[in-house]
Amino acid sequence: MTAKIIIDTDPGQDDAVAILLALAAPDAIEVLGITAVAGNVPLNLTQKNARIICELAGRPDIPVFAGCDRPLAHPLVTAEHVHGKTGLDGIALPDPRMPLQDTHGVDFIIATLRAHSAGTITLCPLGPLTNIATAFRTAPDIVARVKEIVLMGGAYFEVGNITPAAEFNIYVDPEAADIVFKSGVPLTVMPLDVTHKVLTTRSRMTAIRAIGSPVAHAVAAWTDFFERFDMAKYGQEGAPLHDPCVIAYLLAPHLFTGRHINVEIETTSSLTRGMTVADWWGVTDRPKTAVFMGDVDAQGFYDLLTGCLARY
Ligand code: RIB
Ligand code: CA
Repeated sequence: MTAKIIIDTDPGQDDAVAILLALAAPDAIEVLGITAVAGNVPLNLTQKNARIICELAGRPDIPVFAGCDRPLAHPLVTAEHVHGKTGLDGIALPDPRMPLQDTHGVDFIIATLRAHSAGTITLCPLGPLTNIATAFRTAPDIVARVKEIVLMGGAYFEVGNITPAAEFNIYVDPEAADIVFKSGVPLTVMPLDVTHKVLTTRSRMTAIRAIGSPVAHAVAAWTDFFERFDMAKYGQEGAPLHDPCVIAYLLAPHLFTGRHINVEIETTSSLTRGMTVADWWGVTDRPKTAVFMGDVDAQGFYDLLTGCLARY
């Protein structure tokens, strides 16, 4: 059964690999549209980068929308220190020729969920949750129509990457995350606990480079750029490939294991803002709100990714 998805994203090299993975499997995934959000870099760049990626994939037909340009309640925090000034540093790709859609990304999410049968659309957020939360607040009727949300964000055992307590996507817009995590929509979370296990090791990147296509060349060039920051920080071989875990889960859920637990978002403390408070050990009787992933078959993930990228 083909998954109908909306990708909400803040490209970001790892977002780019996730989008390429999704577009490489049209037999399993139908991308109804891509909504850009401010995150790794400002919205004017994330919406442009999303179109660059679609053209690299040979899919200028994919509608790309600009969504929210700032979080619900805090000034925007960006991550140029990881992703570079453009958000896609590592290789210079041509400016997009495909147009940006006139419709606001939030309006696209609302209209699409209303136009399709309830329970048929999966939302795949890869950045801050501002667009999703704004859509839910603007049109509460769509919440029950969402099949599921599979998102990259949060951390528990792996702790934070932008503060000691918080992962970037949740930290940037904790109020939005709180709305999404309390929405009642079936939620699957890919936290740093799994993304830090899918490292871009030399052998894995050698296999991707060996594909020899323009797409593979771009993925390798992006990885060469963005892994430098995490390798220096964590002292490991390679860097985590965060966002493709969301798409890999749709294609091969057996690669991931986790627990259905209560996960709530810290929104008031300045010290722990954006922390995903995951009741991994079931020490409370709080309602279970998310399948929070804890482990992944890393080589299986890379075998899947490499096989799909080789289709371009
Ligand atoms: O913390 C990792 C997340 O933040 C990834 O989605 C990356 O693209 C950045 O958005
Ligand atoms: Ca991202």
